[in-house]
Amino acid sequence: MDIRKEYSLKAHNTFGIDAQADWFIPYKSIEELQLLARDEYFQECRHLLLGEGSNMLFLTNFHGIVLHSQITTLETYEEDEVHLTLLVGSGVHWDDLVAYTCARGLGGLECLSLIPGQVGAAAVQNIGAYGAEISQRVVSVHTVHRRTGELRHFAPEECDYAYRHSFFKTAEGADYIVTHVLLRLDKQPELQLDYADLKARVAARSAAPSPEDVRQEVIAIRRSKLPDPAELGNAGSFFMNPIVPPARLTELQETYPDIPHYPAPEGQVKLSAGWLIDRCGLKGFVLGHAGVYPRQALVLTNVDGEATGQDIARLAQHVQQQVQECFGIELQPEVRYIS
Ligand code: EPU
Repeated sequence: MDIRKEYSLKAHNTFGIDAQADWFIPYKSIEELQLLARDEYFQECRHLLLGEGSNMLFLTNFHGIVLHSQITTLETYEEDEVHLTLLVGSGVHWDDLVAYTCARGLGGLECLSLIPGQVGAAAVQNIGAYGAEISQRVVSVHTVHRRTGELRHFAPEECDYAYRHSFFKTAEGADYIVTHVLLRLDKQPELQLDYADLKARVAARSAAPSPEDVRQEVIAIRRSKLPDPAELGNAGSFFMNPIVPPARLTELQETYPDIPHYPAPEGQVKLSAGWLIDRCGLKGFVLGHAGVYPRQALVLTNVDGEATGQDIARLAQHVQQQVQECFGIELQPEVRYIS
């Protein structure tokens, strides 16, 4: 195992924050994790699972062990007339998997194209876009317990999936280190196009669209709205879209008749955090080395590559305060703060 001491995480988080980990341990197999689980120091030490760091904000150096999956296997697990089930290593780059499935005409992941990160992290975070969530495709999440080394496979209902949430994001769940994810794809895809803009673009592209057509349009939309982390440090949407009772929407509509809103579970409504931030006049706003992205207000960026985690957190707090003052709504970060 290639264990590193006092290791910079700058290349391992998409904000490009230069935080340091006491220890950085890439793992390549279940056996390596089980070996680590037998080590007393490892058992006691704080730990953090880090994929590509596309949803993390390091506020300080990380005192503990950072675990990074390098399990990059991809194999067919099961196949019948209708479905193909793939067993995918948690270290596979998410978008490589989406490209692989779309190129083979398999349906299910196309709306989730170009989302940064690894497969394991995608299953933990329950990534979503354009009406699709990875949880709709998860058959099971395979894990090793970090202290006992025991293997456990979680069925979707045990993962407790919700909007950008799973059991693995809880304190108890964080002890289960994801090694593989079993995903079910459709061999005769029925394209899910809930998002009007995407639907129109796909229809204009082809009369009989394939998952690959959807993928290409999703890529084009994302590239037009979201900055490439390789060029401008960011973590995609910084906040979650707030979910409010319908009465709250009615109140807001009196002043803002054009406020975007979408149905959410249990009769609630989802508002657009990006729209709320934009309406506070914050698009393009810069505070120190951190800025609100001019083309999509839900994205905070490391404007000159010099931002610290604290700089980004300060800007986030300012945005939260402004949205609270303008709309009386409390925005919750989607990005995880790590200290
Ligand atoms: N809007 C504005 N101004 C802005 C940004 C958005 O007015 O600066 C309005 C848009 O015009 C639209 C609405 O807000 O009416 C929603 O915007 P958009 O379609 O861009 O999507 P979003 O709600 O901001 C969510 C996800 C994204 C995902 C897109 C597409 C969350 C927190 N974010 O963004 O996910 O790609 O929908 O489905 O749910 C991510 O999680 O990192 C991410 C990028």
